[in-house]
Amino acid sequence: MSESRRVPFFNYPALFTSHEDAYMEVMRGVLRRGAYIRQAECESLEANVAKFLGVKHAIGVGNCTDGLTLALLCAGVKPGDEVIFPSHTFVATASAIKIIGAVPVPADIGTDHLIDPDSIEAAITPKTTCIMPVQLNGRTADMDRIMDIAERHGLMVVEDAAQSLGSTFRGKRAGSFGRAAAFSFYPAKVLGAFGDAGLVVTDDDAIGQKVRQMADHGRSATGEVEFWGMNSRLDNLHAGVLDYQFSFYDETMARRRVLAGM
Ligand SMILES: Cc1ncc(COP(=O)(O)O)c(C=O)c1O
Repeated sequence: MSESRRVPFFNYPALFTSHEDAYMEVMRGVLRRGAYIRQAECESLEANVAKFLGVKHAIGVGNCTDGLTLALLCAGVKPGDEVIFPSHTFVATASAIKIIGAVPVPADIGTDHLIDPDSIEAAITPKTTCIMPVQLNGRTADMDRIMDIAERHGLMVVEDAAQSLGSTFRGKRAGSFGRAAAFSFYPAKVLGAFGDAGLVVTDDDAIGQKVRQMADHGRSATGEVEFWGMNSRLDNLHAGVLDYQFSFYDETMARRRVLAGM
């Protein structure tokens, strides 16, 4: 009889121990400076991810769920608007829509397990304002068709790119198609923090500014509270860890591809 063996979903301790000395150096550097919130490490990570994706703005936030909420709000989704998303996703996609008072409208998925463009078209009503494709399992939905549908119906696109840092559609990175997108750095993600962390990206200056401000109590660069906001800043300690990990992200992805192909 063959012996059964449990394979853990993710080796959480190895996330730290695989590069323990380097992480300790990064963290010591942050902690000894008392550089806890929105400091050089966060700016560096934001700039590096923005460059990698080919987008103008990247804003570190507390987690991707907050990031999706901020992205939808700042992109202009209003209470009562219908937002079409794929029925096969993590609950956070729908909850981000619901929490801002909009209506999550599920669409079907195709054989690639991603949102089916025909199902999007069938779900559009006069109340629809936004399509929210979810780029799952490192795959990117058919963004040519989705952007075409959005344009024909005057809808915005906000991507749930939680799982897709580095995945592409026809050479263009997931997260760079719509008006805004959010990524997750939950520990089990390919770029994983030692806790919760996320990032919002956009090419739109006004949306980028609004997300940055809304994630910091609505405060401007001079500290004026200009509108209601929340606290969802990316901890600088996490930013330092993520920025270090991101410096060898290409190798990490290449290794994953080799293992997935075995
Ligand atoms: C598709 C998808 N959307 C959103 C999220 C939420 O991310 P976070 O845990 O960073 O809030 C996840 C996390 O697993 C996810 O897989």
